[in-house]
Amino acid sequence: MSYINENFLDLQESYLFSTIAKKVEEFTKKHPEKKIIKLGIGDVTRPIVPTVVEAMKKAADEMGKKETFRGYGPEQGYDFLREKIVEFDYKKRGIDIQKDEIFVSDGAKCDTGNIGEIFSTNNTVAITDPVYPVYLDTNIMAGRKNIIYIPATSENKFVPDLPKEKVDMIYLCFPNNPTGTVLTKDQLKVWVDYARNNKSVILFDSAYEAFITEENVPHSIYEIEGAKEVAIEFRSFSKTAGFTGVRCAYTVVPKELKGYTKDGKEVELNKLWNRRQCTKFNGVPYLTQKAAEAMYTEKGMEEIKENIQYYLENARIIREGLQEAGFTVYGGVNAPYIWLKVPKGHTSWSFFDELLENAGVVGTPGVGFGEHGEGYFRLTAFGSRENTIEAIQRIILDSRK
Ligand code: MLT
Repeated sequence: MSYINENFLDLQESYLFSTIAKKVEEFTKKHPEKKIIKLGIGDVTRPIVPTVVEAMKKAADEMGKKETFRGYGPEQGYDFLREKIVEFDYKKRGIDIQKDEIFVSDGAKCDTGNIGEIFSTNNTVAITDPVYPVYLDTNIMAGRKNIIYIPATSENKFVPDLPKEKVDMIYLCFPNNPTGTVLTKDQLKVWVDYARNNKSVILFDSAYEAFITEENVPHSIYEIEGAKEVAIEFRSFSKTAGFTGVRCAYTVVPKELKGYTKDGKEVELNKLWNRRQCTKFNGVPYLTQKAAEAMYTEKGMEEIKENIQYYLENARIIREGLQEAGFTVYGGVNAPYIWLKVPKGHTSWSFFDELLENAGVVGTPGVGFGEHGEGYFRLTAFGSRENTIEAIQRIILDSRK
């Protein structure tokens, strides 16, 4: 008999974005004539920029020639990309990160989901609420029972309070998915200090750092003194370079960062993650890494910046349009997500249904990100300009009915 991992039975029936996709599919089948605008899942719509496409084509040509063909690459990523990451994402910000502290991967979703494997299932985990569902679901799958939810709502201005009890692992995502809000350097320092005092590890997801527009908002947790002793950072090219379909990201595990055995012996987490990756991962395709490398050229950076500006302008259109129509709106300044309060009398899901049925607009119900997301709704700025404008007009019209 093959026994199952019963922790899976503790999960919600379906992953949030799959549930939404199914609902939309059913609606479309019933109403094929209606044009649906999707501002639900944070999937990009701008094509990959020319400099990056060129690099991909060149790499494809290399793979087709005997002299330049490549088989397995290093599990941790090619040096040419890791060196660019060190130089542009860290050194330029005055942060000292070494090449062998960078692990190139096929996505921050996978990395934030897999990282739990190097930690004890007895750890107490703190998760902000609402939150990107991957953190919680993967901890449930692993069988971690001690999970503490830390609310981040309009009541605390989306600045989560420190846990009252001692926690071992802390998931933080800033700029935040789903609320689109950020922490200042001082606010993030409070968490780094907590982790240093309690020997906890912060799992810091900064997949949206490229969208930061305001000063004093940290792009990397390592901008905070002492963070290298306590934090793993996850970065992604998905939203920055339109790589949601290409798949490339990286995770930083500093060598200073230690975990502990039951009898208190220190162990380098970098070594454990390296061991895990070498066993379970064969690296990101050469083609993809060459494409990612091209992002760091002057031209690549310029082109990518334009795409980011485009999405940020969408965010402004959504934010200001909804505000003018009387909605209470958060986020969208340093992030591609806009978090709004649903109108009185609605739950997150009833507002989802209403918008889908009456306005033909798909968003994400806040409660899908956790209990404290109830009463909120998320829209993404990743649509086309035309669709974004139309969606907001439709939502406003619907709200006036
Ligand atoms: C989201 O919509 O929250 C993101 O697209 C999910 C992801 O990046 O996996």
